[in-house]
Amino acid sequence: MASRDQFNSRLGFILASAGSAVGLGNIWKFPFEVGAGGGAAFVMIYLFFAFVLCFPVMVAEIAIGRKTKLNPVGAFKALGFKRWAIVGYMGVAAGFLILSFYNVVAAWAFGYFVQMVLGNFEIGKAFGEFTKDWLTVGSYALIFMGTTAYVVSRGVSNGIEKAAKILMPTLLIFVVGLVIYALNLPNAMEGVKYYLSPDFSKITGEVIYKALGQAFFSLSLGMGALITYGSYVSRKTNIVTAAATITLVDVSIAFLAGLMMFPFVSYMTGGDLVAMKEVSGGAGFIFQVLPSVFQSLGGGLGVVIGAAFFLLLSFAAFTSTISLLEVPTAYMVDEKKIPRKKATWIVAIIIFLIGVPSMLSQGSVDWLTNFVQLPGMDKSIDFMSFVGLVANDTFLPLGGFLISIFTAYVWKKKNFNEEIAIGAENSNGKFLQLYVDIAISYICPLILGVITIVTIFKTYMGIDILGLY
Ligand code: PHE
Repeated sequence: MASRDQFNSRLGFILASAGSAVGLGNIWKFPFEVGAGGGAAFVMIYLFFAFVLCFPVMVAEIAIGRKTKLNPVGAFKALGFKRWAIVGYMGVAAGFLILSFYNVVAAWAFGYFVQMVLGNFEIGKAFGEFTKDWLTVGSYALIFMGTTAYVVSRGVSNGIEKAAKILMPTLLIFVVGLVIYALNLPNAMEGVKYYLSPDFSKITGEVIYKALGQAFFSLSLGMGALITYGSYVSRKTNIVTAAATITLVDVSIAFLAGLMMFPFVSYMTGGDLVAMKEVSGGAGFIFQVLPSVFQSLGGGLGVVIGAAFFLLLSFAAFTSTISLLEVPTAYMVDEKKIPRKKATWIVAIIIFLIGVPSMLSQGSVDWLTNFVQLPGMDKSIDFMSFVGLVANDTFLPLGGFLISIFTAYVWKKKNFNEEIAIGAENSNGKFLQLYVDIAISYICPLILGVITIVTIFKTYMGIDILGLY
């Protein structure tokens, strides 16, 4: 058997994993969750979850991957616990589901890039029509999935790592440039104020749950994406400091995305707080609002800034779709012994097809558009939002909870600590190591367990077991 592909360098691994983490979650989802969840109050809860709960789970995932050198299903099996492979299967399933709709939103972003280049700023007002037009969206989605599959089919060092090394630095330059630009627009500071002053009255059980889901989603955790990437990491890499770097990069980019988006909105609404609140809380936020912001910058400049923004969004999405596709692909390669190229294309086609109902659920097919109304919801949600609810908001925190229990009590802390000590011999991450040790055994299982169980009862059965809502 050919030896397993590996990341060529520590930096390559960090860039690829940060690429997985930084995505639509940071630039599309985070700002509207902030808008809906009380501005800075949401940001604070999100930061707390990211550092306190998610970072240790990330260390655990990478350690499980590197120890076993396998996909999530194989990894749990290889550590000798067949039953726990169910967590791996859940991860692979989440990979299918998340990528199926993620690719659709990525297609919107890419489609908008094209519209910006053409100078069509009216597209902001036509967001509903654009997303409803499944043929156009489907074509962009096909291009996006095809390009993703091409990179993944080339393997880890030749495909994934190379792409990340080009895309991530470019993305960083774009983000910083756009933030500076946005902060210098008229009324920018009103937007910053809204973004950074907390409204604690908005914090409900639901907002806390959303912040947790957002932290897991944004850090690509709970479904084995980092078990998979971890399986390609060399034993010279310090897992704890690498995970800390990835977490920091991801959180910073989300924070910067807010720092760009709220000034943009504030500029457009003339600093009017009420109007800002109105436009910033929904999934269409950036797609509806930003084109008119770019338009008001005037023809040429608007095209440049608008195209830059949506290209940035597409790049961010791209390094994430790559990692989402890599999880089921690695499963097919390791477990089913299918050659990588073939495995990649098979999985990509299946996921694209699973995404079709999501494309159709944006207004073109009625029953998919009003797909389901769960107990406690005041209106029905479309198929795409439903998949998001199940895959991101439920599977990921649940996966994180199970991974932390597995690591501390099944695989056992001794083995876990041995693994993270490799590559960390003469390093300065000792304090973090100590924290991870405590967090993975007590803090993560406890908090993740409580929140996940409470919200599963509430969301799917309408039962509020702790009376928090
Ligand atoms: N972290 C990615 C984002 O924020 C999404 C993602 C989730 C990627 C899970 C891989 C695994 O957009």
